[in-house]
Amino acid sequence: MKMNELKLVYFSPTGTTRKVLMETARNIDLKSVSFDFSVYKEKKPVLRFAANDFVLFGIPVYYGRVPALFTEYLANITGSGTPAALIATYGCREYEDALLELKETVEKNGFKVIGAAAFPAEHSLVPTIGARRPNKNDMKVIADYGVQLNRRIRKETAFDSVSIHVPGNSPYRKYGRNSLFPKADVSTCTVCRACAKSCPSGAISIKEPMKTDHKKCIGCLKCIRVCKQNSRAISSIKFRILSSRLNKVCQNDRQADIFL
Ligand SMILES: Cc1cc2nc3c(=O)[nH]c(=O)nc-3n(C[C@H](O)[C@H](O)[C@H](O)COP(=O)(O)O)c2cc1C
Repeated sequence: MKMNELKLVYFSPTGTTRKVLMETARNIDLKSVSFDFSVYKEKKPVLRFAANDFVLFGIPVYYGRVPALFTEYLANITGSGTPAALIATYGCREYEDALLELKETVEKNGFKVIGAAAFPAEHSLVPTIGARRPNKNDMKVIADYGVQLNRRIRKETAFDSVSIHVPGNSPYRKYGRNSLFPKADVSTCTVCRACAKSCPSGAISIKEPMKTDHKKCIGCLKCIRVCKQNSRAISSIKFRILSSRLNKVCQNDRQADIFL
């Protein structure tokens, strides 16, 4: 079968998963098209991929799971026996059930998983953990994952014989509850709305960007990163507690797991 296009379907609020996905894609000899779900979409788009497309799915691990918001988008994304490969990035703690959940979800929707990988990265909540990862060495491992996927799609005519096993348990672990709600400082906020426009869950009101809907906020902290005035922050006590808890359970030198 002649492969058609590489479709990049991802969720990456703070950009690390996107970076990993792009490096993988760079090593696959197919024209690529991106579907970025990090930008809020009120209406969930319906996508159907052909049997001769190749889809790379990318997620950050949230609470050892697929981010719940991305799972909602995945419900409308279907394949026709379409080969797919998975990428999960995580902040040097654990990825637990995330790869298994992603694999089972996309397989239920008509994809055939032919590769999966979990890459340790900088922790988006406490960036001193796994700081600046993926680093140069990580990028080589990520590029090699792309090379191996490319070899696989070039060689195989049918993927029936391919069987990928990833770690994880089903039922999946309980999804965590967000308690980090960044607040805007009214004395420095210029109402530029960068936070509201970039919020992946539509939790920040465009009309009143100093207001955050706690029911919608997923705690990705993207709004803090995009605020040029450094006006948005979480409480320093909460950050200290989180940082001390994560520092105990994360290992900065974790290595990639690749399943082919
Ligand atoms: C709400 C939330 C939950 C997270 N949960 C985990 C986790 O369970 N394990 C882990 O190692 N990292 C966890 N992380 C860190 C991210 O998975 C990691 O930094 C990822 O690379 C971020 O990707 P992105 O930059 O594409 O958004 C979490 C981050 C957030 C914001």
